[in-house]
Amino acid sequence: MATFSFILYRSETDLRPGSEPARALVETARRCNERFGLTGFLHHEEGFFFQWLEGEPVNLAGIMARIERDPRHRNLTYLAQGTEPERQFSRWRMGYSTRSDASVLRWMAEHPVVIRERSEYAAGMLAFLREREAFAH
Ligand SMILES: Cc1cc2nc3c(=O)[nH]c(=O)nc-3n(C[C@H](O)[C@H](O)[C@H](O)COP(=O)(O)O)c2cc1C
Repeated sequence: MATFSFILYRSETDLRPGSEPARALVETARRCNERFGLTGFLHHEEGFFFQWLEGEPVNLAGIMARIERDPRHRNLTYLAQGTEPERQFSRWRMGYSTRSDASVLRWMAEHPVVIRERSEYAAGMLAFLREREAFAH
């Protein structure tokens, strides 16, 4: 069975959610991800990006090296990384949502996500992103 790698990170940005430059970023990401077989979801809310990205280990590492250097965000912090037998986001080359779709702060407050450790925070964030995928169109 194929093994995929995944990464979940948070970063800070001055890009406005849903703005033209943000949409352009997502368009480029979609094109690249299609080429490299990467899938995932990007949520953009109040100065933060949260992104889950997954695929073949070598392709994921290559794109992550570019993302880490991208001047459109800073203070990139890994929340989780590892391997998985199947993708979490097979529908999306890169889904995108903003607070007008759903607020992650509100979602975390309304769901029983108990955050004592970073891994629990990461699990809550993944659940939020997967729910966005299910509702996105
Ligand atoms: C928050 C954020 C998420 C990004 N996500 C992806 C992505 O999923 N896939 C991707 O190829 N590029 C992504 N990028 C863009 C890359 O950093 C990079 O600009 C792109 O891969 C093109 O590479 P190049 O600028 O070296 O030509 C993202 C950038 C930011 C700031």
